[in-house]
Amino acid sequence: MPLLEIRRVKKRFGGNLVLDGVDLRVEEAEIRSLIGPNGAGKTTLFNLISGIFSADAGEILFKGKRIDKLQQHEICRAGIARTFQNARPFLSMTVLQNVMSGRLFACDPTFHLKSAEAEALGVLEFVELAAKSHVLAESLTIGDIRRLEIARAIACKPRLILFDEVLAGLTAQETDTALRFVEKLRDERGIAVLLVEHNMRAVMKVSGQVSVLHTGRIICSGEPEVVAHDPAVIESYMGRDHHARR
Ligand SMILES: Nc1ncnc2c1ncn2[C@@H]1O[C@H](COP(=O)(O)OP(=O)(O)OP(=O)(O)O)[C@@H](O)[C@H]1O
Ligand SMILES: [Mg+2]
Repeated sequence: MPLLEIRRVKKRFGGNLVLDGVDLRVEEAEIRSLIGPNGAGKTTLFNLISGIFSADAGEILFKGKRIDKLQQHEICRAGIARTFQNARPFLSMTVLQNVMSGRLFACDPTFHLKSAEAEALGVLEFVELAAKSHVLAESLTIGDIRRLEIARAIACKPRLILFDEVLAGLTAQETDTALRFVEKLRDERGIAVLLVEHNMRAVMKVSGQVSVLHTGRIICSGEPEVVAHDPAVIESYMGRDHHARR
């Protein structure tokens, strides 16, 4: 049974059919990338999986159970965490408090604050940000904000994390560090990752499988090398003329 299964999902905004029957699977402890041109519907798909919007048609299953009618916090507690394309940490709170908020969102109301703090510190150590645990989020660099986003997601104790362009704006070195965390999540904690990313070098490096979303449909899925050489994928990124010239 796949960890996450998306079946024939459709989403329309007004007259704009953004997702037109998307099928996608993520297996346990897999790193799968979801790529596609701007406006393809990647973030919209994340918004459906995480319960921000509901689908107009289709089903979303997690560990074999339907989650497409659940609330955001229920989906988080079921084991799916996410980051946001436009990172929005609580700026006037410390790094530690931000991560604790993730931990508290993902657990039942009886969970103790002290335990949340201890666990949040552990997560900050994992992403090598513990030295800044008492710094206000507003004074972080973009690299540290991305780490904080990753930490907040991990603090939700997920089985699956949806990363939405978590590498955007990072230097090559920061990118490599973030990718190391992603691989560590899978290798040390058995967490599966669905990575929306435009950085193809990063996608090629960490993904077991890649799926390509184009005009609301998955047009290709497979190993990174295979997907990168698929004519339909090249055309969707570069345009028809580019492909004809090759
Ligand atoms: N809340 C919304 N209301 C109306 N239209 C929306 C909404 N969210 C997304 N859209 C539209 O849906 C389409 C897909 O947007 P989405 O943000 O999912 O694309 P994306 O693949 O994440 O693109 P990018 O790579 O630029 O982040 C776009 O045409 C966008 O304008
Ligand atoms: Mg997006």
